[in-house]
Amino acid sequence: MQTKWWHGKVAYQIYPKSFCDSNGDGIGDLQGIISKLDYLKELGVEIVWLSPIFKTPFVDQGYDIADYEDIDPVFGTMADFDELLAKAKERGIDIILDLVINHCSNEHEWFKKACADLNSEEAKYFYFRKGKNGLPPDNLRSYFGGSVWEPVPGHEGEDLYYLHYFTKEQPDLNWNYAPLRQKLFDMINFWLDKGVAGFRIDAIMNIAKDLDFPGLPADGADGMCSANKMTAKLSDQAATFLTMMNDATFKPHDALSVAEAFGVNQDSLKNYIGDDGFFNTIFDFSARELNEKYPAYYRYRPVSIAKWRDTIFASQERVNDIGFMCPIIENHDEPRGVSYYLPRHAQNADGAKAFGAVNVLLRGLPFIYQGQEIGMTNTRFNSIYEFDDVNAKDNYKSALEGGLTPSQALEVLNVESRDNARTPMLWSSEKNAGFSSAPITWLKVHQDYQTLNVAAQKDDENSVLSFYKQLIALKKNPQYKEILTYGKFKALDPVAEYVVPFARELDGKMIYVIANFEDTEVSYGVNADSKILLSSKEVQLQDGRVTIPAVSCVVIEL
Ligand code: GLC
Repeated sequence: MQTKWWHGKVAYQIYPKSFCDSNGDGIGDLQGIISKLDYLKELGVEIVWLSPIFKTPFVDQGYDIADYEDIDPVFGTMADFDELLAKAKERGIDIILDLVINHCSNEHEWFKKACADLNSEEAKYFYFRKGKNGLPPDNLRSYFGGSVWEPVPGHEGEDLYYLHYFTKEQPDLNWNYAPLRQKLFDMINFWLDKGVAGFRIDAIMNIAKDLDFPGLPADGADGMCSANKMTAKLSDQAATFLTMMNDATFKPHDALSVAEAFGVNQDSLKNYIGDDGFFNTIFDFSARELNEKYPAYYRYRPVSIAKWRDTIFASQERVNDIGFMCPIIENHDEPRGVSYYLPRHAQNADGAKAFGAVNVLLRGLPFIYQGQEIGMTNTRFNSIYEFDDVNAKDNYKSALEGGLTPSQALEVLNVESRDNARTPMLWSSEKNAGFSSAPITWLKVHQDYQTLNVAAQKDDENSVLSFYKQLIALKKNPQYKEILTYGKFKALDPVAEYVVPFARELDGKMIYVIANFEDTEVSYGVNADSKILLSSKEVQLQDGRVTIPAVSCVVIEL
């Protein structure tokens, strides 16, 4: 495997609206991020991914981009961004941006020009199609509910539609049109030339489209079929575009490319994340994908840590000889992992530490999502009006249509909603958790902020935050860096349902990472002279056996 500059590092995701508000408008911004760079440096992260900061009407919280080369005024200016880039670099932190190029915003000038003149160049950037038999061109269902087709604004009654796999304010871009692809590649290079270290690449598998728009057999009572089923059939076409993009952008810049690519199968993994892959790496979403097979969001099934382990271990084994994936516990599209996956008795600081050890020490480039490092749990929402997310609102509606009562639907959102992880970062016990001085914040503040916050944990050596610092330091420790980066993943015998144990192995050396989420202790056979590198509670090592207390973890060199 080729050695890359990002190997062995730990990455951190910032959700800019909710990280730190410097100007008191209730919304996080770039100067706020700059003010927290020392915090990130102290934590030990060396790569920071910013969710979108570009000009946007915020229908899908910035994943609807109106200008790819400008910063949204809510976040600041290009000068602020340049300052952030430079100050991060001074601290040894590389910035990667969010590349949202399956679609743009309906407020992008491309789309406005396209609608205003169907014969314009810009009209070729989108998929405009006539309906079929008085219906939209096909029966695909958008990710956020309803048809993927919407009448073209200004041309209502003309049986003319445009395609949108996400909200109707996010028209899909026509990757089949070469000049549009070139525009996107130029834009990517604009940022890379500025010094951005790479990109997290949004919803990218969706760029492939069957230009006949044949639709698919219905998979629901609405007669529609999920757009992702079409995407899954078109991966060869996507591959062609992805190769072009890599050759024109990431590869010549040696940029880090991390894709949000669902559904990559074993046979094609090498093409995605191998040495010559389309990307450097992709997120491991296999645990999240367990829920996708359910017919409706509101009929979700809880995923226990046992299932999480089995599916994540399987994907670790799959990529051992191919490349790296990015282990995550949560992100801005998912509820907090501690609340979602851990048994109730472990939904606390102890559980957060043990889960953190798994996240940071699995093989791959781990991403920590803001707040995870202090053990943030789901936020309590008391009414549908407290939610912001377009997806949450859609799902609430379909839950009611599906027969749930309002309070049942609210409970579903409290478990599943994307807003769970989008609430403001908890900095202190002050007003708005020290996130903002505004009278109110754009999204509510987590209920436990008075005790669960950075200030309360910073100087406490037993805090979740301090434990994360130790984990990251261990991963970077020159003595263990090699094995913790390149060492093969090996599953160990779980011995009990809620235990997540694995080994990293390199050149005959072996490190065990054992996270015990049971409410009783468990023990493992190790070597008589094994050495404990880190543990979240006091562990006993006697006669070649290590005993790990309930809800804790240990890292041992054998
Ligand atoms: C990705 C993003 C998500 C967004 C969607 C559409 O899944 O992570 O937040 O809603 O793409 O851009």
